Parts: sequence; C-alpha cells; structure tokens
Amino acid sequence: MALLSGKTALVSGIANRWSIAYAIARAFHAHGANLILTYEGERTQPEVEKMAAECGGVATMCDVSTDESLAALRAFIDKRGVKLDALVHSIAFARKEELAGKFYATSRDGFALALGVSAYSLVALCRELAPVFAPNASVMTMTYLGSVRAVSNYNVMGVAKAALEASVRYLSVDLGESGIRVNAISAGPIKTASARAVSGFTSILGDVAAKSPLRRNAVADDVANAAVFLASDLSTAITGHVLYVDAGYNVVGIS
Ligand SMILES: NC(=O)c1ccc[n+]([C@@H]2O[C@H](COP(=O)([O-])OP(=O)(O)OC[C@H]3O[C@@H](n4cnc5c(N)ncnc54)[C@H](O)[C@@H]3O)[C@@H](O)[C@H]2O)c1
Repeated sequence: MALLSGKTALVSGIANRWSIAYAIARAFHAHGANLILTYEGERTQPEVEKMAAECGGVATMCDVSTDESLAALRAFIDKRGVKLDALVHSIAFARKEELAGKFYATSRDGFALALGVSAYSLVALCRELAPVFAPNASVMTMTYLGSVRAVSNYNVMGVAKAALEASVRYLSVDLGESGIRVNAISAGPIKTASARAVSGFTSILGDVAAKSPLRRNAVADDVANAAVFLASDLSTAITGHVLYVDAGYNVVGIS
C-alpha cells in the first residue's frame, strides 16, 4: 500500500548510500512521495543528484549552518510552487576529537558548533520553511539514546541530541497550531560515516546486538519504515514524541 502518494517530502542529510536519510528517501519513494533531496555541499552533490534522479525527484544544496543557504532552499521550494507534506532533518556534526575521551574536554567553539549544526538547524529549518508547509505536514528528526544516557565517547553529541529532543517538544507546540506535527526517531547505532566518527562505535554495535530485546541492531530500513509511518496519515495525532527504533535497547536495565 502506498502511504505517501500525492505527498511532497524534503529529505535532508544524504551524504552517501549508507546515510539513514538515503534509506528514508528510498522508502518515501516506494510509498509514492515526490522528493526534494538536499545535500551539504559540492562534495556530495554528484551522488545526491544521481539518487534524486533515481527517485524521480530533485536535489538542491543546503548548508544548515548559514541563514543564506536556508533562504535559498526556501526560494527553491517557492519557485517550484509546492508545499511540503513532510520534512526530514537527518543532520549532525561534531569534531571527531570531541567524540572521544572526557566530555569535560569539549571546547567552547566545538560545543557551539555541534549544537548549532545538530540541534539549532532544526529550529532554523522550521522557521524558514514554515510558510511552505502543507496543512498537517509532518516534521521529523533523528536522535540517539546518548541524549538521555551517558554513552561513552558520544559526549557533546549527546548534549546536542538532548537539545534537539527539547526543540522537538517546543516546535510541536508552536507548529501544532497549524496542524503540523514534529517528532524525533531515536535510532539504534547504524554504521554510517557520522557514526564511525564516534570512538569505539563498533563495540556499541556489539553491545546492542547482545543485549537488546530483539538481539539485533536496528538497520537503516527499520528507521526508514518508521519515518514512512510518521510522514503518513497513520500518525496524525502523534507529535512532540521520541520514537525509539533501536530493537528495544532503550528499555533494558541490567542484563
Ligand atoms: N548512525 C547512527 O548510529 C545514528 C543513530 C542515531 C541517530 N543518528 C542520527 O541520524 C542522522 C543522520 O546521520 P547518519 O548516521 O545517516 O550519518 P551521515 O554522515 O550519513 O549523515 C549526516 C549528514 O549530516 C549532514 N550535515 C552535516 N553538517 C551539515 C551542514 N552544515 N549542513 C547540511 N548538512 C550537514 C552531512 O552532509 C550528512 O549528510 C544524524 O542526526 C545522526 O546523529 C545516527
């Protein structure tokens, strides 16, 4: 059953074929959505343009760290005369050296950089794109358990994800007036470029596979299916929520 036919979705955060956002774009396409993909810069442009073409969609650049780039994205959407039924924010960044060792070693500018790109960008995107949201649009972002638990080496990114999840709650109230939903998917660890930047990532994967109720890791397609649900009319009364797609790992205490 096509759950997203007739809907237009903007999917940010594809860097390569391992990106969670790429699995989401493929699933949205399979469910009949029209796609606008965004990429961070020239390095990822050729790959993302190819992916957009495969999905019958379009691609455009958006570096969420500048207001000019967000305004250019808004202009791109305005020019096409479409409204967005779904927005996927799948973007995060922290310096590699701050994803290892002591959290208290985080630098002032590293903290600001991680929170700016990984959390504030959702707020900025919603502000810029609110005028082009369709009634009952669905906004979603990607978070991780490190927001609510101290996960070794995740450090400043855990603090950024806590800010991101709080932003989801505030945005859900602001945008709820217009019938727009805002949710987060808390994905289990998945081998991607961003995840590999976290020191000791492979041992996190092993721990989840051993201890999660389902005795496996979630994969990008599991996250993509949940994203389809959140973008669809099956989730119309769900907002301000963090949906765990992690094979149940978050519920386990001492195992
Ligand atoms: N992989 C995991 O284990 C995991 C688990 C939970 C949550 N997440 C989250 O999922 C999201 C996607 O990450 P991923 O694992 O697919 O890795 P990824 O490296 O494929 O994706 C991260 C994306 O962020 C983009 N990005 C970074 N800075 C940007 C900027 N200034 N402007 C625009 N885009 C920018 C990159 O271009 C890239 O496409 C992130 O928010 C990540 O924290 C990942």
